[in-house]
Amino acid sequence: MQNQINQYTIEINNFQPANAAELEAFRIRFLGTKGLIKDLFDQFKAVSPEEKRTLGKGLNEFKQLAEAKYQTLKEQSAIQPEKAGSKDDLTLPGEGFQLGSRHPLSLVRNEIIDIFKRLGFVVAEGPEIEDDWHNFSALNFPEEHPARDMQDTFFISKSLTLNPSPGESKMKGDIALRTHTSSVQVRMMEAGKPPFRAIMPGRVYRNEAISARAHCFFHQVEGLYVDENVSFADLKQTLYHFVLEMYGEGTKVRFRPSYFPFTEPSAEMDVSCSICKGAGCQMCKYSGWVEILGCGMVDPNVLENCGIDSEKYTGFAFGMGIERITNLKYQIRDLRLFSENDVRFLKQFQTEIS
Ligand code: DAH
Repeated sequence: MQNQINQYTIEINNFQPANAAELEAFRIRFLGTKGLIKDLFDQFKAVSPEEKRTLGKGLNEFKQLAEAKYQTLKEQSAIQPEKAGSKDDLTLPGEGFQLGSRHPLSLVRNEIIDIFKRLGFVVAEGPEIEDDWHNFSALNFPEEHPARDMQDTFFISKSLTLNPSPGESKMKGDIALRTHTSSVQVRMMEAGKPPFRAIMPGRVYRNEAISARAHCFFHQVEGLYVDENVSFADLKQTLYHFVLEMYGEGTKVRFRPSYFPFTEPSAEMDVSCSICKGAGCQMCKYSGWVEILGCGMVDPNVLENCGIDSEKYTGFAFGMGIERITNLKYQIRDLRLFSENDVRFLKQFQTEIS
C-alpha cells in the first residue's frame, strides 16, 4: 500500500492537464466516489493495527495532496477555461472589437435637443400607444372630421380602459399607435401647470405604403411653449434661431399659412435648401426651399381641453420630422435606409460613442 501511495504521489505531482476534460478525468480517477483514494481507504480498514499507525498519517497527507492539486488546477482553468496549464502568454493584449456608431437619426435628434435645451426647453416623452383623446380629440380634431384623415391611423382596439399608473391620465376612446408627437403636448399640459417650455422627441406611426418618400413609422420632435404673453413673434424668433444653429448662418426661412386643428393661426416653415443653396436640386424639387416643420399658436380650445385658462395663457407649438431634417443635412434621398440596418450606410456616420 505504501508503494501505491508513493507511485500515485509522483503521478499527482507531475500531472498537468491540457484541457478541462483531462482535469475532470483526474478528479474522477483520484477523488471520485469510486476513485483510488476511496479504494486506499477501503484497503486501510483491513490492515493490522500496527500498520494503521504507520500508514494512517501518510494516507491522510496523500488525500490532502490530491485535493489541493485539484483545487489549484481548477482555479487556474477558471481564469483561462479552455487552456488550463497551456503556455499561452496571458500578458498579450486582447483581440480588438469594433465599436458601433450612432444612428444618423439619433445624431440629429440629439442635436435638435441640444439646441432647444440651450434655450431653456426641457425634454419630455409620452407613450407610443395612445388613445383617441390625446392623439385627436383634445387637439381639437372633431369626431368624424376629415382632418382625422390627414393622418392614416393604425388602430389597435376599440375603446379600451387601461389601468393608469399613478399620476397618469386614463386612456380615453379608441386605442391606436400615435400618429404624431402632438399627443405629448396634451399629456404634459394635463399633468402640470404653466409655464411649459418643452420639446418632445419620439417615434410615430402612419398607415402608409413604404417608399423612398414615405414610411409607416418615422420620428418627430414636438415643441411647446405656453406662458403669459407668448406671441407669434416668439415662435418665429425661436424657430429662426434653431435653423441657424442647425444649418448654419446664412440659411433663410419663410413661413407659409397652413392649417392644423390644434393651432390658430397655423403655418409651415421652409428653409432655403442647404444642398443647392437655393439654385434648385432634386431635394427641394427645384424650388430652392424645403419644408421642415408645422407650427402655430396653440388653439384656445386645446388649452381649455387640458385645463388651462386660455384668457390668461397663450402658447406656440411646432412639430418637425427628424427624417426630413436628417435628409437635408446628410443628403439622404431614401427614407428606407434609416430602418434597413445596412452597416455600409450606418458606418458613414462614425462618431465617438460616449
Ligand atoms: N402634428 C403635426 C403633424 O404631424 C405637426 C405639427 C404641426 C405639430 C403644427 C405642431 C404644430 O405642434 O403646431 O403633421
